[in-house]
Amino acid sequence: MTNSEPITDSVLDIEKIRKDFPILQTKVYGKPLIYLDNAATTQKPRTVLQSLETYYTQYNSNVHRGVHFLSQQATEAYEEARKKIAAYINARFDHEIIFTKGTTNGINLVASSFGKKFLKAGDEVLISAMEHHSNIVPWQLICEEKGATLKVIPINEQGELKMDAFDELLNSKVKIVAVTYVSNSLGTVNPVFEMIQKAHALNIPVLIDGAQAIQHIPIDIQQLDADFFAFSGHKIYGPTGVGVLYGKEKWLNEMPPYEGGGDMIKNVTFAKTTYNELPFKFEAGTPDISGGIALGAAIDYVQQIGAATIQQAEEEVVAYAFDRLSAISSLRFIGDAKHRSGAISFLVGNIHPFDLGEILDKQSIAVRTGHHCTQPLMDFFHIPGTVRASFAFYNTKAEVDELVKGIEKAKRMLE
Ligand code: ALA
Repeated sequence: MTNSEPITDSVLDIEKIRKDFPILQTKVYGKPLIYLDNAATTQKPRTVLQSLETYYTQYNSNVHRGVHFLSQQATEAYEEARKKIAAYINARFDHEIIFTKGTTNGINLVASSFGKKFLKAGDEVLISAMEHHSNIVPWQLICEEKGATLKVIPINEQGELKMDAFDELLNSKVKIVAVTYVSNSLGTVNPVFEMIQKAHALNIPVLIDGAQAIQHIPIDIQQLDADFFAFSGHKIYGPTGVGVLYGKEKWLNEMPPYEGGGDMIKNVTFAKTTYNELPFKFEAGTPDISGGIALGAAIDYVQQIGAATIQQAEEEVVAYAFDRLSAISSLRFIGDAKHRSGAISFLVGNIHPFDLGEILDKQSIAVRTGHHCTQPLMDFFHIPGTVRASFAFYNTKAEVDELVKGIEKAKRMLE
């Protein structure tokens, strides 16, 4: 494939869309970049990059603090971005949108703050066997502190949650369920609507790790009814270093602050501090102002194309990839869920994932190899890691064909 070849096989005008992403025009080792590591981070459209530059060249200033012109402009743009995000996921209130550093930070916030208030010895926290380390370790930390127990919903060989086991594990000792919407390693889409309903029937709140869902699946948070939903800006075409924790107002009001510092206070004396209202209670210190504003620009970009159209385009390219990869002898998929999105993990014969990844890299194909921060999941499959190709709406079937050729070449070299 060359950059000038026409690409016409999608619900989207992909050729036009790809021009919005400067990095997709670059070359690696002299060949056009084929970027299939979108689950790790997505590429950024020009409008997001421009938003960052405009902020720093025209109104760089701190938020919520100054009476001067620039500070007011920055505050307005930052709060406008919060509103856009709230509207995008259909939150009831803008103040249910807490800016964070990313998904990991959002989950740590909930584990620590919710855990401090609501967990005690003998309680249980329920996660699943396919969680990213960032939805395991924060819960282990708070469970250890509180004497609570971490329970794990098992999965089957296809990489799907065992829902009968989930039903059995749900009981009055469980104080919160924390589960990923989409597996970063397997691409499994979990039945989160059903899980939330079942947990709510027992008055148990649910945190959804939305890191791998926000960019692939339209989110209506009121319909989903999640109590918490964490995601990262950089997975949805925004910058790194900024993310969002959605929390239902009632929980956020009841939870204590996570970090102390500027902006999260109403009044400070050495004797006693009173805390600011939502969302600022959870936003100590100078935030990633340019990042928040640029995340707003990313949301604008996604909305301009349409989240449902993006989903359809991605489903097409993922289905095509599955089909083409299935035809490679000795390739086996790791995870074969009925409902899937974004990522495809596989191994080829007894080729080590790193070796395959390196050979693909030399052909300018970027995939991720390794355990993908899901070591317990790799243990379940008795493997050290996988090769993972993960897709965005700007990926093409021609790129999938190149991936297949690359794997065939690696097989010839290594098998
Ligand atoms: N969590 C990201 C991934 O799966 C970094 O690659």
